[in-house]
Amino acid sequence: MIAEAQRLQSVQEYYFSKKLQEIANMQTDIPIISLGIGSPDLQPAPEVIETLIKESQAGVNGYQSYRGLPEMRNAMAQFYLSKFEVEVNSNSEILPLIGSKEGIMHISMAFLNEGDKVLIPNPGYPTYTSVTELIQAEPLFYDLKGENNWLPDFEQLEKLAEQKPKIMWINYPHMPTGATASREVLGQLVAFAKRHQILIVNDNPYSFILNDHPTSILSIDGAKEVAIELNSLSKTFNIAGWRIGMVLGKEEFIHSILKVKSNMDSGMNYAIQKAAAKALEVSEEWYDNLTKIYAERRQIIYQICNKLNVKYDPNAVGMFIWAKLPEGIDDKSFIDEILYTKKVFITPGSIFGSNGEGYIRFSLCAPVEKLTEVLKRL
Ligand SMILES: Cc1ncc(COP(=O)(O)O)c(C=O)c1O
Repeated sequence: MIAEAQRLQSVQEYYFSKKLQEIANMQTDIPIISLGIGSPDLQPAPEVIETLIKESQAGVNGYQSYRGLPEMRNAMAQFYLSKFEVEVNSNSEILPLIGSKEGIMHISMAFLNEGDKVLIPNPGYPTYTSVTELIQAEPLFYDLKGENNWLPDFEQLEKLAEQKPKIMWINYPHMPTGATASREVLGQLVAFAKRHQILIVNDNPYSFILNDHPTSILSIDGAKEVAIELNSLSKTFNIAGWRIGMVLGKEEFIHSILKVKSNMDSGMNYAIQKAAAKALEVSEEWYDNLTKIYAERRQIIYQICNKLNVKYDPNAVGMFIWAKLPEGIDDKSFIDEILYTKKVFITPGSIFGSNGEGYIRFSLCAPVEKLTEVLKRL
């Protein structure tokens, strides 16, 4: 028998990979409506598609630079300057990625040895944990709780720091809860990381979805010494399947990540890079329109929440609505019942960690007509 590697023993197939297969195999009289995954159903800007088409015909089909086209890196730097007031050197402080999810693996491989400890939010994006386990480092979960607005408890962090973690994952605006961190909290996190020499990685793909105050951790004084940031074009520009992300930070950190990445892939498709540069330059109207569409959808999800008797925070931001079930109800059984009886899929909160138990998460990636249909079915 050919055994799989030991590192796979602690890792399960990704929840959505399994659940979406189950849903695809379900025999139903009416189509299932998924409010599960955060995959934008909206279209990219027309000029972005036009650029993709035009540049695919340019005859540039060879391997591309490991660091991405200068034009795309410049557009990324300009985007950070205009949106976050963060200055980065487009030659040395930005590395384009084939999606920010892959960046989680690259960063982990670049900085962690086997057995190193990693601070991971509970609840949080499951990939931080699975990647940590895949490379045989060790997750140290820190609590985010509703009563503390889903912000870290610094007393607990200080205790966990005694175990000398090497990396701390943070993700504000936070998925799945939609919580934001003020500049003050980000400043406290940077100070914590400096005190204990921890690399903070802020995973920041949701800053432009229903959020009035996009903030980069790199805009905090002195952050560059201990922090890097992941960003993504997936959600902001409706191109999740095109796979474009970036990691930003000081040259030494970026160089270490490049050492991993350049040994794993052979650059990003030329036309996609040209189109990404175009997307990063869209006017304010793009962002306003995105906000308008998601805000309208959010109102219907609020009605769905009321119907289901679950409680949401109207101040939360991002691409999801995070809602608390009445006391004592199990989230996985709750969503399964809705899936099997109403043919509507909602994500159970416990897949994001134990602090997500008793919560459910709705994605805003469904048009008004579908959301209205959900309301009707309920
Ligand atoms: C918190 C968080 N980080 C990263 C990602 C990955 O985004 P990308 O499409 O850039 O790989 C997601 C996608 O759902 C996410 O929710």
